[in-house]
Amino acid sequence: MPSSNLPFFLFSLLISVSLSTSRQTQSDPSISPNPDCRGRWIHIRNLPSRFNLDLVDNCSHYPVYDNFCPYIANHGLGQKTHNRSHSWYRTDPDMLELIFHRRILEYRCLTPDPTKADAIYLPYYAGLDALRYLYGSDVNSSAEHGLDLFDFLQKDKPQIWARNYGHDHFLVMARVAWDFSRPLTYDLPEWGTSFLELPEFYNVTALTLESRAWPWQEHAIPYPTSFHPPSLDRLESWLSRVRRSRRTKLMLFAGGGGVASAPNIRHSIRTECENRTNLCDIVDCSKGVCEHDPIRYMRPMLRSSFCLQPPGDTPTRRSTFDSILAGCIPVFFEELSAKSQFGWHLPEGEYTNFSVYIPKEEVVLGGRKITELLMGIPRADVGRMRERVLELVPRVMYRRHGSSEALRAIPDAFDLAVEGTIRRIKSRREAEHVR
Ligand SMILES: *[C@@H]1O[C@H](CO)[C@@H](O)[C@H](O)[C@H]1NC(C)=O
Ligand SMILES: *[C@@H]1O[C@H](CO)[C@@H](O)[C@H](O)[C@H]1NC(C)=O
Ligand SMILES: *[C@@H]1O[C@H](CO)[C@@H](O)[C@H](O)[C@H]1NC(C)=O
Ligand SMILES: *[C@@H]1O[C@H](CO)[C@@H](O)[C@H](O)[C@H]1NC(C)=O
Ligand SMILES: *[C@@H]1O[C@H](CO)[C@@H](O)[C@H](O)[C@H]1NC(C)=O
Ligand SMILES: *[C@@H]1O[C@H](CO)[C@@H](O)[C@H](O)[C@H]1NC(C)=O
Repeated sequence: MPSSNLPFFLFSLLISVSLSTSRQTQSDPSISPNPDCRGRWIHIRNLPSRFNLDLVDNCSHYPVYDNFCPYIANHGLGQKTHNRSHSWYRTDPDMLELIFHRRILEYRCLTPDPTKADAIYLPYYAGLDALRYLYGSDVNSSAEHGLDLFDFLQKDKPQIWARNYGHDHFLVMARVAWDFSRPLTYDLPEWGTSFLELPEFYNVTALTLESRAWPWQEHAIPYPTSFHPPSLDRLESWLSRVRRSRRTKLMLFAGGGGVASAPNIRHSIRTECENRTNLCDIVDCSKGVCEHDPIRYMRPMLRSSFCLQPPGDTPTRRSTFDSILAGCIPVFFEELSAKSQFGWHLPEGEYTNFSVYIPKEEVVLGGRKITELLMGIPRADVGRMRERVLELVPRVMYRRHGSSEALRAIPDAFDLAVEGTIRRIKSRREAEHVR
């Protein structure tokens, strides 16, 4: 076996072993009624490997995107940052489909019987399959993304779909919704596939890294960070390190862009920071240098009180979740960056308690100085906000699969995503029945 295929071989071996054992141990609701599981049963749809594992096998086929073979290690968590690390990995957010698949095998309320299930999970790696349309040979047929899956669902055990017209089905699409929202009517080559535009999938719930401004079937869930603790001890020791950390800078921006002189929020941040280097730190992440190297930005984030989260190519950024991990209070410049996106994970009514909001127009056009505004926040308030940020850490992290019982008792990003999905499906099905 060529050595480049070794990580994949191990991965598929683990997934298939876990799949077959989980199939046997899936609790049957009719035999062992577990009150905790009422209304929360999930059935994992059995899909041919072309919808998941084969896509991982093709990890080196998209050089324009990246050779993503290194990132599939540890069920999508990536390689550890160094050999003795327990909680830190070189995680690529696009691997969330693998991470989610592995985690759902540990979900306590799985059922082999689709008719007993409250939700049906499609283990389809939609974002990885999108690569051939976005960067590969199928660039001119991107309106077809998803049709093969739909066809399969109509032909193989069609009664599973038919029971609720697909309203109970959900899947993870580990990219921003924009990448799947190319209008079907476009003739010209245009960015994106049309998965979320296909009427065939209107009824399905899609978990994406960012939703559209007017989402229909998708809901945003946190970008995976690089922190995946295996036990409560590891989580607590990280949190106490964060609490002890000396914050010598007022604010930090970790990212790229803003170099050109066109007026935009990243440009304003850069100019302000260059003038106030005693208060402001910039971690230059251009050319993707930070992507698989969390140490580059986590250390500076630990030394800063506020972390600026301007919109980049799209409104959201992974860095929002990295900064929460570091106890660095996020500063947002538009509501689409988090508030209107991550309602299942970051409580919408509490934004003023854990973040700062400065409309970008006030900075770019109104000449408002971010440093002055942040310096005006009383010390005691900053301390309270940081404590609230730290309380959010478990909600936005994806703990490692196979973690300790004590850690499993605390809902993490995966648990909250599943809870939100089940609530969403329930309300949709109720709406259907009323009609
Ligand atoms: C993997 O790549 C090969 C070569 O490009 C292609 O023929 C095959 O269909 C791909 N498999 C999947 C599941 O995308
Ligand atoms: C980490 O462990 C691997 C496998 O045991 C070894 O090949 C590698 O050299 C180690 N790396 C470091 C930096 O120690
Ligand atoms: C896609 O279409 C464009 C324009 O018609 C054409 O130039 C290009 O070669 C096509 N690409 C592929 C991969 O077929
Ligand atoms: C979606 O649900 C509606 C009913 O709410 C149904 O009429 C329609 O056929 C469903 N779409 C698909 C593709 O099953
Ligand atoms: C930067 O500092 C210079 C000199 O003090 C000042 O003229 C300029 O207006 C400042 N620029 C910004 C963006 O604050
Ligand atoms: C938010 O902070 C305010 C002021 O500190 C406090 O009164 C309020 O209870 C907090 N809200 C939540 C939901 O924690």
